[in-house]
Amino acid sequence: MKRIPLIRPYITEEVKAKVCEVLDSFYLTEGPVTKEFEETIKSYIGCTYVLGLCNCTVGLETALRATGIGQGDEIIVPDYTYPATADVVQIVGAKIVIVDVNPETMLINYDAIERAITPHTKAVIPVSLFGNPLDYDRLNGIKAKYDIIIIEDAACSLGARFQDTYVGNLADISVFSLHPRKFITTGEGGVVTTNNTQWAEWMLSYKHFGIGVHDSRLTTSFERIGTNYKLSNIQAAVGLVQMKHINELLLKRREISERYYQLFENTPKISFPKTTIKGTHSWQSCCIFIENRNHIIQELAKSNIETQIGTYSLHMHKAFRKNPECHIHGDMSGSRYAFDHCLTLPLYHEMEKAEQDYVVSKLLEAIGEN
Ligand SMILES: Cc1ncc(COP(=O)(O)O)c(C=O)c1O
Repeated sequence: MKRIPLIRPYITEEVKAKVCEVLDSFYLTEGPVTKEFEETIKSYIGCTYVLGLCNCTVGLETALRATGIGQGDEIIVPDYTYPATADVVQIVGAKIVIVDVNPETMLINYDAIERAITPHTKAVIPVSLFGNPLDYDRLNGIKAKYDIIIIEDAACSLGARFQDTYVGNLADISVFSLHPRKFITTGEGGVVTTNNTQWAEWMLSYKHFGIGVHDSRLTTSFERIGTNYKLSNIQAAVGLVQMKHINELLLKRREISERYYQLFENTPKISFPKTTIKGTHSWQSCCIFIENRNHIIQELAKSNIETQIGTYSLHMHKAFRKNPECHIHGDMSGSRYAFDHCLTLPLYHEMEKAEQDYVVSKLLEAIGEN
């Protein structure tokens, strides 16, 4: 059996042709293709503003700055996430407050958010991890009760929904990643969405050297200190073609993930994370819980199968544990469970049944069930 990768990006002849078209146009920086890509995402999600940026991390930083978050503010983040979720808090000068996750969903523990709120809490950055949407019944309740802002780290969740609403149209600001681990990818890239005009204009200006967003090219003014976080036409071309196929990609990923769960259904050594009630998962990752996870990863690698851990438990890392600007609030047992047990399985749109069967049989063999 040939190597089975964790993910294979959707790079077709159609994608390559679109990239060549951009190269032939000589318009290589941010431009009309970026705009078209943003518009496509906007109509897909149904939100008012979409901005392309060079990655999700700077998108989160930009979102925090747009809402005026900085020194003296406390921002609550989940422990079980990629470090970028918390890094950006300190990058803008605010204090990181880490809380535990629910071990069943691996998403932020909503009760733990409430326990960590103080008069200095300005926002929460919950993460819709692996494509599992957050519970906005709970989050909106907390938002209303404590008057805080929700900036969703939706790095993994393009295409996920809570009830009938797409992720990207639920939080005050949402930020997606277009890194190749995500099934809509521009190599490096990110997307910020919001329905708030003031924040959208601020972010557009900031990512574009601080320009006045209502100026014409001839009357350009610089209204604030800004930076360059643009998404190029070349990158956008890749994502634009993929967006045309998003529904079929989502369907395919759902089918493969559900089949994994069916095939492992009667295996006592394997259990499954729960999808948020009223939520529709987008299956950026298909994860299971398993004992001896690291050993399984090594065993599968011997059969040329790439699997991965889920993500990281921030409290275990020096950057957060030994950081006077970071407060680890409460016990992190949910996060620790996820960190120790979560295994991410290979999942890509062209995955064949025979390849999936091979993964399943080698995994069962590794746990002594085959
Ligand atoms: C939850 C989460 N947040 C943020 C990021 C950072 O995304 P990017 O690489 O686009 O900056 C990632 C990357 O995988 C992630 O998984």
